[in-house]
Amino acid sequence: MKLLLNVLKRIHKPAVYSSQPRCRSSSARSGLLPLRDEALIVGSNPELVQRLGPQVEVRRGFITEEEEGAFMQELELGLKKKRYEFDHWDGAIHGYRETERVMWGERCEEVLSRVRSGAFPEGSPLLGPVHILDLDKTGYIKPHIDSVKFCGSTIAGLSLLSDSIMRLVKEDDAEEWLDLLLPRFSLYILRDQARYNFTHQILKDEESVFNGQRVPRLRRISVICRNLPG
Ligand code: OGA
Ligand code: MN
Repeated sequence: MKLLLNVLKRIHKPAVYSSQPRCRSSSARSGLLPLRDEALIVGSNPELVQRLGPQVEVRRGFITEEEEGAFMQELELGLKKKRYEFDHWDGAIHGYRETERVMWGERCEEVLSRVRSGAFPEGSPLLGPVHILDLDKTGYIKPHIDSVKFCGSTIAGLSLLSDSIMRLVKEDDAEEWLDLLLPRFSLYILRDQARYNFTHQILKDEESVFNGQRVPRLRRISVICRNLPG
């Protein structure tokens, strides 16, 4: 089966990181206990975090464990029929299987309309099918920019089953980067510059360290909504 999302052009761009995140977490600033209100975004410099802030969002606990269960119930059977794909010579994704879906049961539809109304500009036409990407524990997504031909200004994704780290790197300046901690149950949103001028990637388990803290990467499923190019 040829999936629509397979034609998304995924641009690779190896990036070299010369510095470690220096940004202090919000908990360090506010004196709150770590893990309760830990910053979910760190970057190469505070100015970049400030500037890109409005275009990058991570909303912790956007779905409940029960809602995750509703997605798993709808998706697991279909996914299990597919095999994880490894080592596509030109692929941006390693160790994955994917599907897309237009029609959803009530519980999932409820969550998806929350995503749509929360993430996209009002009236913005959306890509009909929702994209589901199932990364194996050993899977990862290499740096790429989603096709500007097929997707518009906004990408919004739910993270199921595992925490993970999404790294954004400026396309023309590898020194400019942001790391996003995507906790299980969270929603992330990439908009505008963050979507067009930065590559994004999901780190493999071995490299999954956020702000100096190890974040084990298990099997992870993302449910991704996109809008159409304007
Ligand atoms: C993609 C992608 C991110 C995610 O499929 O193009 O970047 O959260 N996915 O799975
Ligand atoms: Mn992408």
